[in-house]
Amino acid sequence: MSTEFHPVLNAAELPAGASKAVHIDGHDILVGNAAGEFFAVQNRCTHQDSPLEGGRIRNGLIACPLHGVMFDVRTGCGRGQMGRVPLRTFALRVVEGRIEVSLAAPVAAA
Ligand code: FES
Repeated sequence: MSTEFHPVLNAAELPAGASKAVHIDGHDILVGNAAGEFFAVQNRCTHQDSPLEGGRIRNGLIACPLHGVMFDVRTGCGRGQMGRVPLRTFALRVVEGRIEVSLAAPVAAA
């Protein structure tokens, strides 16, 4: 798996609570801002494969617009029975105001 980072958006384009779909090497990825913390997850809900873009982001969770299952934006873990399959998460960094995403998994927080 490539650990190369790809510039995707300017951080200023993504205010708190916003999300935007981007594509890297054929992967549909959702980049979002959870109260100032940027994240990158797969842009397909694991419940019924619906896009997560536009889902409400609150308290570190994104709610799928279709049926409302909530996923932790850091770990990808879902809530409840419909969210039992976690989202894939991606490494993200901000370099000189530019959001960059890697197809590698994020480094786990200690
Ligand atoms: S498709 Fe996302 S909650 Fe059902």
